[in-house]
Amino acid sequence: MKYLLALDQGTTSSRAIVFDEQGHAVSSAQQEFEQIFPSPGHVEHNPEAIWKSQIETAKEALDTNAIPDSEIAAIGIANQRETVVLWDKKSGQPVCNAVVWQSRITDPICKRLKADQLDSFIREKTGLVIDAYFSGTKIQYLLDNISGLRRRAEQGEILFGTVDSFLIWRLTNGRVHATDVTNASRTMLFNIHTQEWDRELLDLLKIPECMLPEVMPSSGIIGHSDPSIFGREIPIAGCAGDQQAATFGQACFSPGDAKNTYGTGCFMLLNTGEQAVTSQLGLLTTIGWKIGKTTTYCLEGSVFIAGAVVQWLRDGIGIIEESAQVTQLCDSVHDNGGVYFVPAFVGLGTPYWDSSARGTIIGITRGTTSGHIARAAIQSMAFQSMDVLDAMQQESGVKLTRLKVDGGATVNNSLLSFQAGLLGVPVLRPQIQETTALGAAFLAGLATGVYADMDEIAEHWTLDREFQPAMSVNQRENLSADWHHAVRAARGWIR
Ligand code: G3P
Repeated sequence: MKYLLALDQGTTSSRAIVFDEQGHAVSSAQQEFEQIFPSPGHVEHNPEAIWKSQIETAKEALDTNAIPDSEIAAIGIANQRETVVLWDKKSGQPVCNAVVWQSRITDPICKRLKADQLDSFIREKTGLVIDAYFSGTKIQYLLDNISGLRRRAEQGEILFGTVDSFLIWRLTNGRVHATDVTNASRTMLFNIHTQEWDRELLDLLKIPECMLPEVMPSSGIIGHSDPSIFGREIPIAGCAGDQQAATFGQACFSPGDAKNTYGTGCFMLLNTGEQAVTSQLGLLTTIGWKIGKTTTYCLEGSVFIAGAVVQWLRDGIGIIEESAQVTQLCDSVHDNGGVYFVPAFVGLGTPYWDSSARGTIIGITRGTTSGHIARAAIQSMAFQSMDVLDAMQQESGVKLTRLKVDGGATVNNSLLSFQAGLLGVPVLRPQIQETTALGAAFLAGLATGVYADMDEIAEHWTLDREFQPAMSVNQRENLSADWHHAVRAARGWIR
């Protein structure tokens, strides 16, 4: 039996899971790490905390007698995307905190790019909209604001990477500075058609090319872990941004297949095959994966705050002590009591792309309880996903017949029933919920001969439960109208 070690470096926690070749998790470990909020709308991570939590969980997951060390065929990495890490090439030490994808610190730079009417120029090359979400303006901001950094970067002393790249650098003890096409496609510096760093974009954002990692396929040997880390060299053979990894883990291999992940944010990806479909409705065109010479593209809808709203209920206003208690609190009421919660803590992503929006709770009466607030918070994930799916169907002309789902919040049956009702299509939850980590493991297993091909991988996808839509058209329309009323109230808050 061969095993695969998947590292799933997410926004709020690092996870490591060892899968057997059937795709069953045989051991796992998870650690949350600190979220740093230096000012409203700005989010940072300490890269050392990312590394420490990831490596400790990897060692913990491997440290079980059930897995003979020599049987780990490969490592696969899935990671929070867009987040920027800058480190010193010589020492390997980060030169500042990581600027997290959620951070709005570069809104002013994006405003200027929009004022210069660069939307189509950037979209045509990168498939992305101009937004602080993506890495490019974050790198520019750091180079402009940390004394001496730009000069050092120009002299080749500073390296940039998304989190995958930083982990690969550390795992290989500084021998490999690489990323994969999916992560590169989220930087706003990468031409998704030619699959090269784009000279014009680098000039526009004043980013020296020598900082950038080499771009690799998503499945293939990128390097080997240094023996000092796990006691022997293990090939790093799979790498993808976490949402693309989850799409792969859900075996969405054919054009028209789609998945929605309810993580910190909510990310819906639709496989469009070898064709990069350009969006006019606020969807992103992104690389799904590259295997060999074949690139699969996806349309993506990105919702910034989904599961993070539960964290806020816990850590922000303290109406629950543990995240898991949210289900019980929701079930303490029969419906949302007319309360709608738009969790636009860092603005709104697809389809609005409105950085001026902020979190809004509307419809509160004297009878509103914490149960209603919690229920509205959970329902916000389903409403935001409904907006994304509407845009996706309009854009692609494809009427989805089902939606595969995964991520922490999908343990909540009432959320998935509500989601199926709102979308009017069945929602399918797989048996293996860890599809992000699984996708990374599959990509690594494909590169190292654990799997012969993608057909063999698809056989490992098994259904846990299918949630059927059971909402009248009238009910759906009323809920949708109320939700959009709340969205309007949330917008235009920041001048
Ligand atoms: O684009 C951001 C995304 O990759 C974050 O994913 O799983 O940390 O919510 P997650």
